[in-house]
Amino acid sequence: MAILRIFLFLFVIISSQGIFGEQCLNDQWPPKADRVVPTHVVNLDLPATERWKEISTIYKSEIIDLVDYIKKFVVEISPELQFLISLVDTKLPAMADTLPAPYGDEMKGISQATGVPLGEIVLYNIFYEIFTMCTSIVAQDKNGNVIHGRNLDFGLFLGWDMLNNTWTLSEKLRPLITQVNFTQNGQVIFKTTSFAGYIGVITGMRPGVFSISMNERYGLKGGYIGLIEWIFNINRKQSFVTFAMRDMLTTSETYDQAVKYLAEVKLTAPCYYILAGPKPGDGVIVTRSRNGSDDIKPLGKDNLWFLVETNYDNWKKPPFYDDRVTPCIKCMKTKGQNQVTFESLFNVFSSRPMLNKLTVYTALMEPATGRLESYWQYCRDEDAPCVPW
Ligand SMILES: *[C@@H]1O[C@H](CO)[C@@H](O)[C@H](O)[C@H]1NC(C)=O
Ligand SMILES: *[C@@H]1O[C@H](CO)[C@@H](O)[C@H](O)[C@H]1NC(C)=O
Ligand SMILES: *[C@@H]1O[C@H](CO)[C@@H](O)[C@H](O)[C@H]1NC(C)=O
Repeated sequence: MAILRIFLFLFVIISSQGIFGEQCLNDQWPPKADRVVPTHVVNLDLPATERWKEISTIYKSEIIDLVDYIKKFVVEISPELQFLISLVDTKLPAMADTLPAPYGDEMKGISQATGVPLGEIVLYNIFYEIFTMCTSIVAQDKNGNVIHGRNLDFGLFLGWDMLNNTWTLSEKLRPLITQVNFTQNGQVIFKTTSFAGYIGVITGMRPGVFSISMNERYGLKGGYIGLIEWIFNINRKQSFVTFAMRDMLTTSETYDQAVKYLAEVKLTAPCYYILAGPKPGDGVIVTRSRNGSDDIKPLGKDNLWFLVETNYDNWKKPPFYDDRVTPCIKCMKTKGQNQVTFESLFNVFSSRPMLNKLTVYTALMEPATGRLESYWQYCRDEDAPCVPW
C-alpha cells in the first residue's frame, strides 16, 4: 500500500518537473537569528559513558519521538529497516560491544540518559548511515582561500505528510540538529554539525587542518551488505562510513593525511567524502566503494575554482529526476570567483532545487580559520514551488 502510494507520487512529480523552477538567489544572507543552530560541548576527557549525558538529557523527548517514529512508520516502507528492527532486541544491543572504542560506551551512556533501550539507540545511530541525500560544495576565491559548505537532505521516501506537504522524518529531525564542540584539555579538537544522540560524523572540521562532509552514494550494491556482515560477524575489518569520519577527525593531523585515510579505509558502504583544507588547492571529492576509492577529483581538475557533489558519480550525467548538480554549477558560475564567501554559498544552498523539501540544514566551514556556522533550512511552497527532493 505504502509502496503504491510512493509510485503514484513519483509519477505525479516526474510528469510535472516543469513547474519547479531553478533559482540563484542573492538575498538570503544573513539568516534570521531563529535559524542559527546552537552549539553544545562533548568533553572527550570524560569517560565515554558520561560524554553525551548533557546533550541526551536536553534532547531526550526529541530523541524518543524520532526513535518511536522510526519503529512505527519507517518500517512500513523500508524492508531493510524492517529487518534491522527485528534485531533491535536481540542482535543490536550486543552490537554496541562489537564497535571499536569509544562508540559502544558512548551509546550506552546515551541509552542511560534517555531511558531508550540500547538496541534502539544503536538503530538510531545506524539509521544516519543510510538515508542521507545532500549537496556539498568546495570553492576557492582569487586569493586562494578555500571554503566548504553542505546542505543536508534527509528522509527520502520515509513518509510524506499529505496534510502539510512535508516529509515527516525531516520535520522530526530538525529539532535534533546541533553543533558539537569536541574538547580535550579545554581545547576544541574538532567540531561537527550533527543530531543529538548521534555519535558519528556527517559534517565536521578540525580547525586549521581540514573540513569534511559525506554524501550518500546510491545505485551501487553494498549499502546494507556491510552492515549485515558486521552484525553477523562475517567481516568486522571495515569501518562504518560516519565513524571513519570521526576517527579521522580525532587522529589526522594534516589535510593530506585525512585524504589518504579516507581514500583507503575499508568501509561498510559506498559514499562520497568531500574535503577542504587551509591551503590554496586543498579540496577533493573522494568517490568510495567499500574496498577503496573509484575516483579522486581534486579542486581545479576541470579548470573550475569549485567542486560540487550531490549523490551521483561526478563523471556521469545525473538522473533527470534528480539533477541538483547542473543548477548548482550554473549558480556558482553566475556568482563567480569574486564571491566566495559564507554569504554567497548560503545563497546558493538556499536556492531551489539545492534547497528542497528534504533539506534540514546548511553548514558552512572555513578550514583555515576554523569558522563553522549551521542554519536550519525549510523549503516553503509559499515562496516558490519546492521540489520534494
Ligand atoms: C565552540 O568553539 C568555538 C571556538 O572554536 C567557540 O567560539 C564557541 O564559543 C564554542 N561553543 C561552546 C558552546 O562552547
Ligand atoms: C502539520 O500541520 C498541523 C496543522 O498545521 C500541525 O499541527 C502539525 O504539527 C504539522 N505536522 C508536522 C509534522 O509538522
Ligand atoms: C574487496 O576485496 C576483497 C579482497 O581483495 C574481495 O574479496 C571482495 O570481493 C571485495 N569487495 C568488494 C565489495 O569489492
